[in-house]
Amino acid sequence: MSFRLQPTPPARPNRCQLFGPGSNTKLFEKMAASAADVINLDLEDSVSPTDKASARANVIQAINDVDWKSKYLSVRINGLDTPYWYRDVVDVLEQAGDRLDQIMIPKVGCAADVYAVDALVTAIETAKGRKKPISFEVIIESAAGIAHVEEIAASSPRMAAMSLGAADFAASMGMQTTGIGGTQEQYYMLNGGTRHYSDPWHWAQTAIVAACRTHGVLPVDGPFGDFSDDEGYRAQARRSATLGMVGKWAIHPKQIALANEVFTPSDAAVTEAREILAAMEDAKARGEGATVYKGRLVDIASIKQAEVIVRQSEMIAG
Ligand code: COA
Ligand code: MG
Repeated sequence: MSFRLQPTPPARPNRCQLFGPGSNTKLFEKMAASAADVINLDLEDSVSPTDKASARANVIQAINDVDWKSKYLSVRINGLDTPYWYRDVVDVLEQAGDRLDQIMIPKVGCAADVYAVDALVTAIETAKGRKKPISFEVIIESAAGIAHVEEIAASSPRMAAMSLGAADFAASMGMQTTGIGGTQEQYYMLNGGTRHYSDPWHWAQTAIVAACRTHGVLPVDGPFGDFSDDEGYRAQARRSATLGMVGKWAIHPKQIALANEVFTPSDAAVTEAREILAAMEDAKARGEGATVYKGRLVDIASIKQAEVIVRQSEMIAG
């Protein structure tokens, strides 16, 4: 371990982030009643330019009036390359009450983008005497974002979560696909004439996870566009969970249960993790740092691996 200990990210469930356009008021009560851990009310790309001002007003009213229960409540503002974002921040923070937990900043390309929003948020919090500090989640969805991912993760003490936005990311990278996450038909290896599909999102995901884990930020997988493809969603989410991500977006309510299923450690995984911890306790009592569990090596590193699963399970249950 480095002399610098790895910081822990916020201890709250973030298995599913449910999005809904700020222009679609009839969704708000349904979102609040859903099983998603995080709600993202959107002012950005699901809202047309003509609806930006009314969506902002809808979202402010919904933050104040809807019973969001224990959900982590987030508003996605417009990007810093638009004329909308400053008014999103000013109006939402001045007019919405303390129920709002988080602001999501899309298309972040460098740490200074986060700094700019932080400066504005800090001034409004102080001026208005807001009691609860607003946290930030950012979307990495551009070439610049992934190139500067670590400085972005480290950019502000408000940083709590970071997602990969597959669609804008693919466009910014010039990727030849209109798919939003998941398997891409043209991305395969050939072995004896058989196609083996590889994962074009993998490297960006691992870069995000490494940056997040270095700086105590929650790494999250973004949207999966084909909401008719449950197995495709599951496969993408399982890869993300295996890589260290803690959750995934839902852009349709049918994806919520899938995310909760994949990002809640299974009973079998928790049982095995507890058995490994018990095996290592026995080994320790014998003065050994390594032992055998089900025919395979477990050692002191295995304790940390097992604890990841047990801690996640206990945090979700709690
Ligand atoms: N949150 C909560 N409920 C939702 C919902 C959402 N995001 N999207 C749809 N629903 C509801 C519908 O109102 C409908 O409810 P009902 O059974 O009471 O009538 C039910 O779920 C089934 O919806 P369906 O008819 O299958 O979908 P749709 O055609 O109404 O909407 C989308 C499809 C994709 C337009 C819609 O799901 C949506 O706007 N998703 C979010 C998009 C977004 O926020 N994008 C930004 C992030 S990428
Ligand atoms: Mg986007």
